[in-house]
Amino acid sequence: KDGYDLVVVANRLPVDFSVGLDGSLSWQRSPGGLVTALEPVMQNADGAWIGWSGAPDLKHEPFDAEGMRLVPVTLSATEIERYYEGFSNDTLWPLYHDVIAPPTYHRQWWDAYRRVNQRFADAAAEQAADGAVVWVHDYQLQLVPRLLRDLRPDLRIGFFDHIPFPPVELFGQLPWRRQIIDGLLGADLVGFQRNGDAANFVRAVRRLTDHATRGPIITMLDSEGRQGRHVRAGAFPISIDSASFDELARRPEVQSRAKEIRADLGEPEILMLGVDRLDYTKGIRHRIKAYGEILEDGRLDVEHATLVQIASPSRENVGAYQELREHVEILVGRINGEFGELGHSAIHYLHHSYPQEEMAALYLAADVMLVTSLRDGMNLVAKEYIAARSDDRGVLVLSEFTGAADELAPGPLLVNPHDIDGLKDIIVAAATMDPREQRRRMRRLRRKVLADDVAKWSAGFLSVLGSIPVHPVTAEPRSAD
Ligand code: G6P
Repeated sequence: KDGYDLVVVANRLPVDFSVGLDGSLSWQRSPGGLVTALEPVMQNADGAWIGWSGAPDLKHEPFDAEGMRLVPVTLSATEIERYYEGFSNDTLWPLYHDVIAPPTYHRQWWDAYRRVNQRFADAAAEQAADGAVVWVHDYQLQLVPRLLRDLRPDLRIGFFDHIPFPPVELFGQLPWRRQIIDGLLGADLVGFQRNGDAANFVRAVRRLTDHATRGPIITMLDSEGRQGRHVRAGAFPISIDSASFDELARRPEVQSRAKEIRADLGEPEILMLGVDRLDYTKGIRHRIKAYGEILEDGRLDVEHATLVQIASPSRENVGAYQELREHVEILVGRINGEFGELGHSAIHYLHHSYPQEEMAALYLAADVMLVTSLRDGMNLVAKEYIAARSDDRGVLVLSEFTGAADELAPGPLLVNPHDIDGLKDIIVAAATMDPREQRRRMRRLRRKVLADDVAKWSAGFLSVLGSIPVHPVTAEPRSAD
């Protein structure tokens, strides 16, 4: 079959569409991490990328851009509500992040999830050449590996989960837990951010199916116990394009913008920074509460310190995100009202997203970077901060509950964000850390982040996927629902 040798399947395409006043469609590259990682591989390999355009009912023929084939998948408004906002972001997202918010289980959402996953699988089957490699991404598309293998047993299929995979004690709540496991087991390689996530997955396979497991290798067994394919699970911690971030932050215009930011803020001695999608997994409330108490205790004051919190808008139709926004904004208002002075805000809260240049300038301006997620697959903000600091200055406060903590320790100041007293102590320690200690830690962090970049990540995943022997095509054993 004719087609593409490497097919990426992800919920979103690497471009954003916009509709002009005359109704015409145009698109711009969206600066996501995944596209920077995969662009070079895709261009070399004759690649296609299958994904949703980001808008309801938007129909667009496949087209060539950024050196690859882009294949838009159309979702209706109801499908967006049930598959994307519902099952992906109000069922799986909270469940996979340790039920920080209660997951909603809704049978109509599951039906939409199945149908939309089938549509992505159909599109991948259509685009892939004989024996092609197909790389499926993230929790929105966990059924695609199985659905695709049923259509195209000749393909080599990899799946990467960008978010945590929960312990089976939580995952087991999901009414469709077996179908999800069965969906993932359609892949030859199932990748995760941390070893702990891969171990959780293998435990779930053991608990919920009859397949055999040996370390990270799962051997599929049919109902008579006959052996089929092997599926490998493993950790592939994702990263950023470290060199280009480093280069960006060295540009004179970015450096002078960083100075300008500090001047606009009234030249604080200590500038603290938080940068997150406005998401309840990020621990924004814990961080702001701790900061308010530090001001209340008089350990820092608004004449010398300030906190900039960038909270970029995210998933605004989902109830839990609307509630979070209310809570955060009330809390910020209260702290500013209580502790701010004319010309000195306690917290500068910005509900926007910014281009990379501005982010790099903010990282450079910040003495302390606060990453206090309650649970986070990796957290690339932590890595961006490090890549930006070629001056070897700045302190990273990093939650233990991020994938990044597994990789980067020692170097950051690790913190349990649930422990507000502990968090306060760490924030004050970061604010008062002497420059020699900052340099010692930052150098170590930079060595790690510059060496382990996103190109190495994608090459690592694809090379393991490529080395897995292809099993002769036989009927696929599958676990009963
Ligand atoms: C996380 C997920 C991604 C997702 C991103 C933004 O990083 O792992 O799959 O694309 O959040 O969320 P959104 O719902 O806007 O795509």
